[in-house]
Amino acid sequence: MPRSRLIVSSLMAVAVVAVVWLWFFPPRWWLNVTKPVDLTDPVGTGKILIGKYDCRRCHFIGEEGISKGPALPGVTKRLDAVSLRLWLRNPGSIRGGTSMPNFRLSDSEIEAIVSYLTALDNSPTERPPPDEAVKKLKRLLGG
Ligand code: HEC
Repeated sequence: MPRSRLIVSSLMAVAVVAVVWLWFFPPRWWLNVTKPVDLTDPVGTGKILIGKYDCRRCHFIGEEGISKGPALPGVTKRLDAVSLRLWLRNPGSIRGGTSMPNFRLSDSEIEAIVSYLTALDNSPTERPPPDEAVKKLKRLLGG
């Protein structure tokens, strides 16, 4: 094989390895480079991200959602700052085999989501999740 072909194939092999690595095992710096969010309005951004990642398909958050996972009202008071962030960063590292997916959130996305959850927990209108009976009654009344 001519030397130049050898160099080209080695470079291509390195590129493939790099792509596989960044795609399947993205390191934190890479997530921060590729998925930064603007934190001028962290609460608003957090709200958008909760919608984007569809956290409510498993969690009850701010008056709506499903309780497949724990209901999140009060979570920012229940968990310390580090554990809360770790849940968002890598759920499996806290509880192996958890059904909560790793969303590969960047640090700024995590901060935005934490700000939104904190704002909900500190808002005076925040109420605990309605129990099943109340929900059923509301459904019956069409409300
Ligand atoms: C497929 C379902 C699912 C989705 C989607 C999901 N989670 Fe979870 N989450 C869980 C489950 C289940 C747990 C509890 C972990 C366990 O017991 O295995 C959990 C735990 C948590 C906890 C810790 C709660 C506590 O009380 O300890 C936080 C915080 C959390 N999730 C936030 C989020 C956020 C934010 C999103 C969206 C980015 C999200 N989750 C999306 C299923 C989900």
